[in-house]
Amino acid sequence: MNYFPTYLALGEAFCNRKEELKRISYNLKDNTPILLISPRRYGKTSLALKSFEQIKWPYAYIDLYKALSEEDIERFILQGIGQLLGKIESAPKKLLHLAGDFFASLQIKVVVEKAGIQLEFNQNKLAATDIILKSLEKLHDLAKKKEKRVILFLDEFQIVGEVTHHHAIEAAIREAAQKSSHIAYVFSGSNRHLMEQMFYDRKRPFYKLCDQIKLDRINSSEYEKYIQRAAQKKWNKKLAQKTLDIIFSLTELHPYYLNKLCSLLWQLEKLPTENESSMIWQQFVFENKSTVERELDLLSINQRKLLIFLATNKKTDELFSKKMTKIMNLTSSSVQRAIEPLLEKDYVFIDPNKFYRILDPLIKAVLSSESFSIK
Ligand SMILES: Nc1ncnc2c1ncn2[C@@H]1O[C@H](COP(=O)(O)OP(=O)(O)OP(=O)(O)O)[C@@H](O)[C@H]1O
Ligand SMILES: [Mg+2]
Repeated sequence: MNYFPTYLALGEAFCNRKEELKRISYNLKDNTPILLISPRRYGKTSLALKSFEQIKWPYAYIDLYKALSEEDIERFILQGIGQLLGKIESAPKKLLHLAGDFFASLQIKVVVEKAGIQLEFNQNKLAATDIILKSLEKLHDLAKKKEKRVILFLDEFQIVGEVTHHHAIEAAIREAAQKSSHIAYVFSGSNRHLMEQMFYDRKRPFYKLCDQIKLDRINSSEYEKYIQRAAQKKWNKKLAQKTLDIIFSLTELHPYYLNKLCSLLWQLEKLPTENESSMIWQQFVFENKSTVERELDLLSINQRKLLIFLATNKKTDELFSKKMTKIMNLTSSSVQRAIEPLLEKDYVFIDPNKFYRILDPLIKAVLSSESFSIK
């Protein structure tokens, strides 16, 4: 099995997050909508799917990433509901009957195919917002009638705020979520900043609707158990403490990069040493250098200066002091102006000791390599 996926961590590839799982389970049972929030690639989607697997309620995973319009959002939600109907009713004839009934009043045609039911939208004349609200209400009534609790997981939900200029769809979903006793709502999105705008702004419909669960990195003692078990299985031996330490320090326990480095190490025939681990990471950094540089080209010169400073200095708590701004060759107010968007866009975070740190260990590694300079 793949212990270190670089896509979703499902089944046995999922490590820890016990507290978060407990809290999600509690909220699901308690009918409280949930918001999962974290910087990119910390494990929101994996966590949500793991919790559904545990609670064993039928769920629809609605990934809005590719939605470009209100109609797309409506379709993705309806297809998600279609998925759920398939989980509530598995006999094909009964499913066709159930789905046909369900979608008829929304003027949507249903055909059953091998992969499940397919919806035909072309006759649909109602506004997207109305269809969304109606279909959520109908789903609720159906679940209630069948005495089943179901879950709607709306991922990449920031898209809803991006493709619409009004908040009507948000208002419709809020209305449905607030009234619901049989559909549990889980929201997540990879753009933390846009998600926070939707959920923290008192003028927006989602203000104070959800229990908010913030994901942090997984701690090293949990990873240690997990990694050593995987090492035993692969090489019949445990990694040396120094090797573990270097893996943790290079990836800074960032879930994606930890998996990335370990997936490369687990391709080796022999148990990796500290040096090999370090070399493989350097190789990975080298291979990704130009992609990172291209991304950083989009930032302002001052933002880049600041990132380079953070990548190459250890003492990064008093960023605005004379001494620090002099090293950076910036004024205190330009540091202030540069740091805000970097925090907002998750390039930088403030750690518990109040140190400003680069969030992405790959970006940090590229910036601290000697060959990097501002063009
Ligand atoms: N609990 C976990 N145990 C082990 N690995 C994990 C865990 N959670 C996430 N990962 C790994 O971290 C990476 C990101 O996971 P996932 O896609 O779930 O995060 P995400 O926060 O939804 O990302 P995005 O912000 O891009 O949507 C993947 O490589 C995944 O395998
Ligand atoms: Mg995700």
